Amino acid sequence: MQIAKESDADAIARLVNAAFSVERFFIARDRTNPGEIRALMQKGKFLLAEDALGLVGCVYMELRGERGYLGMLSIDPSRQRMGVGRQMIAAVEKYFRDAGCKFSDLKIVSVRAELHDLYHRWGYADTGTAVYDDPEPTKIPVHFIAMSKPF
Ligand SMILES: CC(C)(COP(=O)(O)OP(=O)(O)OC[C@H]1O[C@@H](n2cnc3c(N)ncnc32)[C@H](O)[C@@H]1OP(=O)(O)O)[C@@H](O)C(=O)NCCC(=O)NCCS
Repeated sequence: MQIAKESDADAIARLVNAAFSVERFFIARDRTNPGEIRALMQKGKFLLAEDALGLVGCVYMELRGERGYLGMLSIDPSRQRMGVGRQMIAAVEKYFRDAGCKFSDLKIVSVRAELHDLYHRWGYADTGTAVYDDPEPTKIPVHFIAMSKPF
C-alpha cells in the first residue's frame, strides 16, 4: 500500500464513484470529483491499494489531534469481499496509532445497515448522529451515524 500523489486524484475519484454507486438507491449523484480529492489532500492523505492491473482500493485518513478520521473507503466493485477493505482499515488504524491517536473515527449513512454491522465487527461503536448535509436531496430520509474505535 502507498500514499497517493496529487496526480492520482482523477483515478481516486473514479474509484470512489464506482464503489459508492451502491448508494444510488438513496441519492442520485457522484460521491466525489477530482477537485474535492485534491482539496482533501491538503488536509489529509489517501492510502492506495494497487495490483499489477491498477488501483484496487483507497481510503482517506486525516489526523485530528488525538483522533484520526477515515472516510471514502472504496474497493473496486470487481474486487470486493476479498479482504482488501479489512486490510486497508488495519493499515489506517496503524497509521493513526503510530501518530499517537487514541481513537479512530468515521461516519456512515444510516440506511447502509451492512456497513453498520461490518464496523461493529471491526470494533467501532456508535457515538452520535448528524444531519446528512448534501446539496442533492435524498430519495428517502437518511442521517449520518458517527462511529469510533478506541485504541
Ligand atoms: C465496504 C467495503 C469497503 C468493504 O471492503 P471489501 O474489500 O469488500 O471487504 P472485505 O472483503 O475486507 O470484507 C470485510 C467484511 O465485510 C463483509 N462485507 C463486505 N462487503 C459486504 C457487503 N456488501 N455486505 C455485507 N457484508 C460485507 C465481509 O463479509 C467481511 O466480514 P468479516 O470482516 O466479518 O469477515 C467495500 O465493499 C466497498 O467499497 N463498498 C462500497 C463503498 C462503501 O460503502 N464504502 C464504505 C464507506 S464508510
